Amino acid sequence: MKVTVLGAAGGIGQPLSLLLKLNLPAGSELSLYDVAPSTPGVAKDVSHIPTDVKVEGFTGEDPSEALKGADIVLIPAGVARKPGMTRADLFNINASIVRDLVAKAAQVCPKACIGIITNPVNATVPIAAEVLKKAGVYDKRKLFGVTTLDVIRSETFIAELKNTELRPNYISVIGGHSGTTILPLLSQVQHVEFSDDEVKSLTTRIQNAGTEVVEAKAGAGSATLSMAYAAMRFALSLVRAAQGENVVTCAYVEGDGKYAPFFAQPLLLGKDGVDQLLPIGPLSAFEQAALDEMLPALRTEIENGVKFVKES
Ligand code: NAD
Ligand code: LMR
Repeated sequence: MKVTVLGAAGGIGQPLSLLLKLNLPAGSELSLYDVAPSTPGVAKDVSHIPTDVKVEGFTGEDPSEALKGADIVLIPAGVARKPGMTRADLFNINASIVRDLVAKAAQVCPKACIGIITNPVNATVPIAAEVLKKAGVYDKRKLFGVTTLDVIRSETFIAELKNTELRPNYISVIGGHSGTTILPLLSQVQHVEFSDDEVKSLTTRIQNAGTEVVEAKAGAGSATLSMAYAAMRFALSLVRAAQGENVVTCAYVEGDGKYAPFFAQPLLLGKDGVDQLLPIGPLSAFEQAALDEMLPALRTEIENGVKFVKES
């Protein structure tokens, strides 16, 4: 497998590259690209770690060399929030960064699975889809918004609150990746009971966890280390699925359109990306109301992304 990281010299990109070097299966290739001129140095640094993963680094205006032969492309390129900003405030800068990088991926590695990390994910994933459609290579099974950070936060906060064992992937987080569009399905967590107050406060904490980090970093950016772990976990899910394992994960994809054209939900991954959209399952009254309430905002963000490419 060859994994390419676009934005590899950044706050997420560097620890993600480290984690991939440590955890990709033996014989894999890791290709690092960023407009920052330090990127070949980041690649050289990581390459000295003794694992059987070949690392190359690229910089400059054109990511084509880095994308050659990629099976998986992870995109954390772009600007991050500062206190007082919403993810939507990043649209003006990040929309064109994602558009241009995905256009290159469409040319160079049209069959790759693409994981978009760059915010606002609710809009950058529809942007990527439109670009891939324009290039005639869109396969909706292979385009993902990476929402794994919402899942790992839920796992951590539930374990903290209830003093329970940490278990990976035992909670679905549906909807999107901003504010109230992040909806953890606490009612479906096995073997743990929550009071109504706990459901409300835990849901709010998970929805605001990104802001919690942005405020604590006080102007130095947003989540990078936990995001790098989340992106590695997501990438390894794609790798394991490509190797024939059945893997279930949540991500933001173009689904069946029941709730919104793009929607985060549980998925069964297979050799070619999404193999099956899995049902979101029964919702509590609280979750159903939260879902109904988020959909207009989610649809608007999706429309903004589509419009941006159509008008570009
Ligand atoms: P950062 O500023 O530390 O790093 C971004 C990197 O992107 C920089 O190295 C920069 O040089 C590079 N870059 C900018 N334009 C580029 C281009 N055209 N091609 C290649 N590289 C380019 O930011 P960060 O903290 O790593 O965050 C990156 C993005 O990820 C932000 O948009 C942030 O909001 C988002 N994010 C998403 C999630 C999520 O859950 N999906 C979580 C955390 C952060
Ligand atoms: C997060 O959830 O931490 C990221 O989306 C970054 C942010 O801006 O909150």
